[in-house]
This record gives sequence, structure tokens and C-alpha cells, in this order.
Amino acid sequence: MEKIVELKNVSKVYKIGDNEFKALDNIDLSLNKGEMIVILGPSGAGKSTLLNLIGGMDTPTSGNVIIDGENISKYNENKLSDYRAENVGFIFQFYNILPSLTVKENVDIVKDIVKNRGEYRRCIKRRRTFRA
Ligand SMILES: Nc1ncnc2c1ncn2[C@@H]1O[C@H](COP(=O)(O)OP(=O)(O)O)[C@@H](O)[C@H]1O
Ligand SMILES: [Mg+2]
Repeated sequence: MEKIVELKNVSKVYKIGDNEFKALDNIDLSLNKGEMIVILGPSGAGKSTLLNLIGGMDTPTSGNVIIDGENISKYNENKLSDYRAENVGFIFQFYNILPSLTVKENVDIVKDIVKNRGEYRRCIKRRRTFRA
């Protein structure tokens, strides 16, 4: 089986003023291509922190996040941005849409970011009903 996601000794420490909070403590995770998993745990367990690291929205304090053989924990902001645009689909808990834009405009933003522009159209199922 081909590995697609691999986390090795990953820790994430949040600093709040002088205090440190270890949200992830030396996590190892290995997922094969095509595998579907559920990450389950009580509120505050570190689920969102883990997804943010896999999705390239945050970087680990230590350890390695390897996606399809590439160590994204070494990426700078620009490379992470490309990685997210080309590889990651993320449904946020609190939507993260721009309230000043219409639904169409919120979806259209993707056109400026993603190279494969054909894909974003599948997001809108009833495009004819939108008022620009
Ligand atoms: N940006 C942050 N700054 C400080 N602490 C954070 C931050 N994000 C998460 N935490 C803390 O890290 C822990 C794990 O949070 P989180 O990953 O959001 O858990 P879950 O998604 O499982 O509810 C919690 O104790 C939370 O308060
Ligand atoms: Mg969460």
C-alpha cells in the first residue's frame, strides 16, 4: 500500500504569553492512499490541531509531516499555500466564508488560486439560480 500521509514524532506547542500548552505530544500517524479514517476525541483533544498540520494551515513545533513523500513541515508560507491550493480540501467547522461576498463570489475566489480551474465549478450545483 502506498503511504500518502505520514506523521513522525509530531508535537505542537501553543504559547500563550509565558505559558506553553502541548496540544500534540509526539504523534505518529500513517495513512495509505485511498484510506478513509475518523479522528475521534473529546473537545480539546487536539483534532483540529492535527488536521491543521496535515492540511498545511499550521506547522509543527517539532517532528515531520510527510505528504506523498514530501516533508511539508519544512515548507515556507508560499510553498504551503501552493500545497493547500493544489492538494487540500478542507471543510471548516465555522465555514470561513467572506460575509461581504455572495456565494458565487466566495466560490469564484478559488479561480484565482487554483491552477485547475475546471474543478471549482463542481462546487456550485445550481449555478443558474445565483444573482451576481
Ligand atoms: N491557537 C491556539 N492557541 C492556544 N491554544 C490553542 C490554540 N489552538 C488550540 N489550542 C489548545 O490546544 C488544545 C487542542 O485544541 P484543538 O486542536 O482545537 O482540539 P479539538 O479540535 O480536539 O477540540 C486545546 O486545549 C486548545 O485550547
Ligand atoms: Mg476542533
